[in-house]
Amino acid sequence: MRFLITAGPTREPIDPVRYLSNRSSGKMGYALAVAALARGHEVTLVSGPVAIPAPEGTKLVRVETAREMHDAVAGEIGEADAAIFCAAVADYRVAEIAGEKIKKTGETLTLTLVRNPDILGSARSAFGFRGILVGFAAETEDLERHALDKLRRKGCDLLVANDVSRTDIAFDCDENEVAVFFRDGRHMALPRAPKGEIASAIVREVEKCASAVAGLSEAGSDVETTLDRGQ
Ligand code: C5P
Repeated sequence: MRFLITAGPTREPIDPVRYLSNRSSGKMGYALAVAALARGHEVTLVSGPVAIPAPEGTKLVRVETAREMHDAVAGEIGEADAAIFCAAVADYRVAEIAGEKIKKTGETLTLTLVRNPDILGSARSAFGFRGILVGFAAETEDLERHALDKLRRKGCDLLVANDVSRTDIAFDCDENEVAVFFRDGRHMALPRAPKGEIASAIVREVEKCASAVAGLSEAGSDVETTLDRGQ
């Protein structure tokens, strides 16, 4: 299969020397790329700025901002059978990037932020993607409710949820512990393990999902599940 994976944070410039970003290290997305390659898949990795090298054999597309990530995904997703959106995309960017370094003149400084495009949310609708779609959800409370809501709203087949209120897993850690929610209502807990193991398990679930969809088509069920995705 051909996998498209987004990874890392995005960086939203404020002025020539400052930016808004988040604590994503890219480790989970890069582990997914390694896992998919190890299982014989092709991988395109659309990555925000991270400190880790891209796994050998991936097609790496480097981006900085959410809008750059959006455009890179728009350009690559047509080639993919599965897309995993693991990046921690900044929800907002600064409305007007200052041309010069902002001086500390007043006691307070107000920045106006505007919404960034929702890349995962565009996959089914704007990009017309019909492959296996995987989203991530980083939540600090009410994990299951938010995860299921996100899965449906964004037309995902799988939604991987992690609890970022914990400091021992997820952001910038080598281990993770996640719950995977499926479109058909099933869910599965993946107990705490190195991100490489979690990644392999997720890639295997994507493969199973792809086989199930292929099986449905082969069985002559043309009104197959991809048609109602994204609703
Ligand atoms: O809505 P929320 O940001 O919590 O959704 C998280 C999921 O959506 C992740 O899979 C993330 O990669 C993706 N996302 C995106 N573009 C955004 C925001 C989130 O692709 N602007």
